[in-house]
Amino acid sequence: MSDSPIAVFDSGLGGLSVVRHLRQLLPREEIVYFGDTARVPYGTKSQPTVVQFALETAGFLLQFDPKLIVAACNTASALALDELMQAMPVPVIGVVEPGARAAVRLAGGAPLAVLGTEATIASGSYLRAIRAVEPAQPVISKACPLFVPLVEEGRHSGDPLVRMTVETYLGGLRSQGVRVVVLGCTHYPLLREAIAELLGPDVQIVDSGRETSLVVQQHLAARAAL
Ligand code: DGL
Repeated sequence: MSDSPIAVFDSGLGGLSVVRHLRQLLPREEIVYFGDTARVPYGTKSQPTVVQFALETAGFLLQFDPKLIVAACNTASALALDELMQAMPVPVIGVVEPGARAAVRLAGGAPLAVLGTEATIASGSYLRAIRAVEPAQPVISKACPLFVPLVEEGRHSGDPLVRMTVETYLGGLRSQGVRVVVLGCTHYPLLREAIAELLGPDVQIVDSGRETSLVVQQHLAARAAL
């Protein structure tokens, strides 16, 4: 461990779920978090706007002299990771690839579904990351645009409106033989209970934030071993 912190950013507060995983895995690390609550949501915005916001947000975090930056926001990871990696003087770890890898591993060739914001799904980033691991992997990509405003409104898994929305977006997945679902948005873990209940016990849920924390842990361990 060095004294410099791990910097984490998201479009809002949802990325704190990633911080929670990081704290569990790396309790001795300092973490600096920035949630761009003034400009949330990113998931409905164009790529140039998301790239600009991501660069500004990550750039702001450089003043804390981080050892690495975690783009906890799926939309920023999906649309702006290359730009971030090029522009930042420290390593940048996004959430898409770790989530994609874990999903392919768990699916074992059965269909998997990726849930995300409109921008994340339209970018095709998860699909590319999944196919890079397993070119024949069957993937269903599903934008769930109402999930973020529902969470922002403070609605939880037991709320009838949440249950109805989850059923509307995801009801069809059961008949499509989906075995794994990726929560490809920082807000979706907050609706995990409703999603898991609808999909049933045979469907495994991947939290990209949790998988990313494991990658950060491995990255730091590899660095320490140098
Ligand atoms: N943080 C965003 C993500 O993970 C969700 C909220 C937003 O649309 O900005 O995609």
